[in-house]
Amino acid sequence: MNSVLEAMKKRRSRYALTNECSLSSEALHQLIADALTHAPTPMNAQTARLVVLLGENHRRFWDALLVRLKEVTDPEKFPKTKEKVETAFRAGFGTILFFEDTEAVQALKDKLPLYAHNFDSWSDQSNGMLQITLWSALAEANLGASLQHYQELMEDALKKEYDLPKPWRLLAQMPFGRATDVPEEKSIDPLSKRLFFFGE
Ligand SMILES: Cc1cc2nc3c(=O)[nH]c(=O)nc-3n(C[C@H](O)[C@H](O)[C@H](O)COP(=O)(O)O)c2cc1C
Repeated sequence: MNSVLEAMKKRRSRYALTNECSLSSEALHQLIADALTHAPTPMNAQTARLVVLLGENHRRFWDALLVRLKEVTDPEKFPKTKEKVETAFRAGFGTILFFEDTEAVQALKDKLPLYAHNFDSWSDQSNGMLQITLWSALAEANLGASLQHYQELMEDALKKEYDLPKPWRLLAQMPFGRATDVPEEKSIDPLSKRLFFFGE
């Protein structure tokens, strides 16, 4: 199989992580920088921003999320939520935070009014492309990860703690580390309903 597709096949959502990393600090920085450098963006606009939390910063993020989740979760359900956050996310080695710079997106809309209505969607799409690039690259490097969405609860607190620009929009969080779970077999819908070729 093509090596890109091999990495994508190896990539799964991994929900039991340990605080270990198969890569040196330098190699991890390079892998993340390479993904950000080479993922495609509309009109090469490069509107994604990444923040990588490691060590205490990573753990503080998930601890702060638990405080917020406790405020909004049914008390009976909270112990289960807490266990998941602790074992699947906080127990990992680090967390990659995916942002889009809405000021840079607005600049594109101003520059190209004909396409302005597309740029919010393209901003989401290109960030998704970066997410899958990194998720697959981590898997290829024997690092497990999952994709989480707690932006409503955490965006403001993150901006305050790390003095991040206000126009940045948080899209996703990717906790990663050594994965110890065995991913469940996933159901695959028939390709005959989803894939069509016309011509040779
Ligand atoms: C746009 C998008 C949003 C997702 N959001 C979440 C999420 O919030 N939490 C989560 O645990 N998984 C999330 N996932 C992961 C999917 O549930 C997962 O990829 C899917 O069930 C297939 O499993 P696999 O990742 O093991 O192949 C998301 C995936 C995508 C593409």
